[in-house]
Amino acid sequence: MTLWDRLEERQAQVSDRSILSLFNGGRAGVFSARMGDLLFDYSKTYIDVETLDLLLELAADADVFGRRDAMFAGEKINETEGRAVLHTALRNLKGAPVLVDGIDVMPDILATLERMQEFCTQVRSGVFQGQGGAITDVVNIGIGGSDLGPQMTTLALAPYHDGPRAHFVSNIDGAHIADTLKGLNPETTLVIVASKTFTTIETMTNAKTARDWMAQTVADPAAQFVAVSSAIGKAAEFGIPADRVFGFGDYVGGRYSVWGPIGLSLMLAIGPGNFREFLHGGAEMDAHFCKSDAAQNMPLLLALVGIWHHQICGYKTRAVLPYDQRLMHLPAYFQQLEMESNGKSVTMDGQPLTHPSGPVVWGKPGTNGQHAFYQLIHQGTDVVPCEFLIAAKGHEPDLTHQHDLLLANCLAQSEALMKGRSLEEARDLMAAKGFTGAELERQARHHVFPGNRPTTTLIYPKLTPNTLGRIIALYEHRVFVEGVVLGINSFDQWGVELGKELAVALTPLVKGEESVEGKDGSTRMLVDYILKSK
Ligand code: F6P
Repeated sequence: MTLWDRLEERQAQVSDRSILSLFNGGRAGVFSARMGDLLFDYSKTYIDVETLDLLLELAADADVFGRRDAMFAGEKINETEGRAVLHTALRNLKGAPVLVDGIDVMPDILATLERMQEFCTQVRSGVFQGQGGAITDVVNIGIGGSDLGPQMTTLALAPYHDGPRAHFVSNIDGAHIADTLKGLNPETTLVIVASKTFTTIETMTNAKTARDWMAQTVADPAAQFVAVSSAIGKAAEFGIPADRVFGFGDYVGGRYSVWGPIGLSLMLAIGPGNFREFLHGGAEMDAHFCKSDAAQNMPLLLALVGIWHHQICGYKTRAVLPYDQRLMHLPAYFQQLEMESNGKSVTMDGQPLTHPSGPVVWGKPGTNGQHAFYQLIHQGTDVVPCEFLIAAKGHEPDLTHQHDLLLANCLAQSEALMKGRSLEEARDLMAAKGFTGAELERQARHHVFPGNRPTTTLIYPKLTPNTLGRIIALYEHRVFVEGVVLGINSFDQWGVELGKELAVALTPLVKGEESVEGKDGSTRMLVDYILKSK
C-alpha cells in the first residue's frame, strides 16, 4: 500500500467525524505553527495526529528537504528549461555565495539592488527629473509576474507609500493604458517597462503606446523610461540606455520576481529602506523553511494541508480570503503562483501525474466576499477549503473599532464553517420565529449549515513590509513543496504558449488581411462577425 493509498484510506475513516469533536484539549496548539510572530492555525481541519504523520511521511518520501537544499544551492531543478531556481538569492541580503555553474550570482544581485536603491533615491528626492520637473507618477507596464507582484505589494504596503503615485498597466486591451495615461502629465511621468523576456506582446505593445504618448510632449521620451528585464540587449534595442536598465538572471521565474528589479515600482513607492525590510522578511522565511523541523515547518505544513484537501479529500478549489482590503490583489497573485506553477499534467520525467495537479485558487477580501460568494461556501454542495489571512492590528489608529469588526467577522466565518447548524437547531430557530408544522420543516431545511468545512487562518500583528515578505515567501515555498510531492516541475509554464502562438496567427485574420480558410467553423463564424461589425 502506498502512502497515497494510506492517506485515502485515512480520509475515508475520518470524514464522518465532526471537526469540532477533535478539539478535546490542546488541539489548537498541536495543529498550528509559529514563525516569529506569524501564527498559522490549521486546527479547524480534519487533520489529526495519524493523518499528519502520514502527510509528513509523504513529504519525506518525496525528499522535499533534499529538493529544497538543491534549489537553494543553485542546482538546475527547473529541468525542462535547464535553469536554476534562485528567487531566494534576490533576498539573500547577507550575500552568502550562491553558485550557478560555479559562478557566484550574489555580487551581481547586490550590485543591481544598490543601483536600484540609488535610482529610487534620486527619483524620490527629485534629483532625477522628468522634462517638467520631479516625477509625480510611475507607470509600471508589465503582465503576469511583472505586474501582479509589484501591483499587489504596492497596494498591500500603502501605509508606507511616500513616493510618487504608482499605476499599473498590463492588459493588451487599449482601454487599460488609455484609462491609465488619461490625466497623467507626460512631463512628470516615469515609465517602467517590466518584462523578464522583453518580448511579451502585451508589454511591448503598451510600452510603444506609452512612448508615443510621451513623445507628443516630451523631447526625449526614452529619458523617462526604465527597463527591468533579464534580456538587457532587447531593452537597449527599445532605446533605453544601459544605466536605466536593471537586469536579473534567468534563474528568477516571472511569478517569483517581485524581489528583484521587477519590484522597482514598489521600491519607488515605499523607499529602499522599506523594500529591504520586505526582502528581510522573505529571507527570514527562507531561513525558517531551511532550518525548522518538519513538524513546525510552516511552508511544509501549509503545503501538506493543501495536499490533504485537494489531492486526498478531492476538494476542487481553494479560496484565499484576506481580511485586509489592501490585500485585494493577493488572491490573483497566489492564483498565478499556484496555478502557473503546479497546473501541469505530467511529472518532471514526462509521465502522467498519478494524482490531480494543483487546485483552482480564487478569492477576494473579507468582508466583501461574505456578501457575494460565501453563500456557496457555507451551503453549497462543493466543499471549498478557505485560507483566511488577517492582522491583529490595522494601520488606522482612529478606526480600531472597524478593525475589531473585521477581526470578529474573520473569526466568525471559520467558526461558522466548522460548526455549521444542524437540522435540530434550525427547527428550534424556526419554531422561535413562530413557524409550525410543514412550513417549519420546510424553512428549517433552508437554515441548515452542513459545517465541517475546513479552514486555516494565518494571523500576524500588523501588515508590515517584513510580514508581507514572510507571507509571500511562505506561499512560494508551499507551492514548491506541493510540486515536489506531486513530482511536478513548478518552474516552467509551457501551458501558456499555445494560446500565444495562435493569437499571433489570428491577428491578420481579425484585421481582414488573411483568409479564415482552414479554421474551424466556430472561429470562422466569430471572425466573420468581427469583420462585419468593425
Ligand atoms: O505568459 C506567461 C508569462 O510568461 C508569465 O510566466 C510571466 O510572469 C508573464 O508571462 C510575463 O512575462 P515577461 O515578464 O517575460 O513579460
